Amino acid sequence: MKHLVVLSGAGVSADSGIKTFRDADGLWENYRVEDVCTPEALAANPALVLDFYNQRRRQLKTTQPNAGHIAIAELEKVFKVDVITQNVDNLHERAGSTRVLHLHGELTKVRSMTHPAYICEVDGDIAVGDLCPQGGQLRPHIVFFGEAVPMLERAAAIVSTADLLLIAGTSMVVYPAASLYGYAPQNCPIYVINPDATTIAAPNVTYIRERFAVGMPQLAQQLKMDNG
Ligand code: APR
Repeated sequence: MKHLVVLSGAGVSADSGIKTFRDADGLWENYRVEDVCTPEALAANPALVLDFYNQRRRQLKTTQPNAGHIAIAELEKVFKVDVITQNVDNLHERAGSTRVLHLHGELTKVRSMTHPAYICEVDGDIAVGDLCPQGGQLRPHIVFFGEAVPMLERAAAIVSTADLLLIAGTSMVVYPAASLYGYAPQNCPIYVINPDATTIAAPNVTYIRERFAVGMPQLAQQLKMDNG
């Protein structure tokens, strides 16, 4: 089986009703990113930061994967598919994708601020005073701006064995995620799905200027015909 690697960003969840980061004047769901997505914000106003992610977690429960997420999951019948996502939602998994790596963390997990190896699943809200067994405050298992991206090396290794690379719904402005396509083998065919004019500096790129929920099922159909 050929190895298909998908790099996804906020735009793939836009068609499920989750707002992207950079399509709204630097605000994310009415918050300034610096007020809710940085270690400084967590230290200065933990209740605000925890509540912001509680709201995102609640929103996720009323959100469904779209036709694009489902098309990627179905490609597992034809390809070995690895999804590397910048998104913290679980829509790829809920659509049926079985190999999903979250570069920027996961909304449905929390970890201890004092014992970072303590990571657990969370369904509801977390508050100041919710502690790990060792007594450390729990925080969202999210990579904030300015924090290291622990999954980066694993992601780069996955991209380096791609036969086909698909980049969907990302503005490609946040590093190091935006540098990942550079690890693809030379001349690996790359498909970019984005309704805007985002371009990348690589040979062999096909641009699909469509919304993900429209362009992805069409591309999946074509990939199945070409490689099935
Ligand atoms: N289908 C496909 N792409 C879309 C759609 C859609 N329906 N709607 C918007 N887009 C595109 C936009 O054109 C834009 O290029 O999705 C991209 C979203 O860009 P960003 O909001 O910057 O999201 P992303 O690239 O995932 O951001 C990266 O930044 O804030 C941090 O950590 C956060 O993971 C996030 C990272």
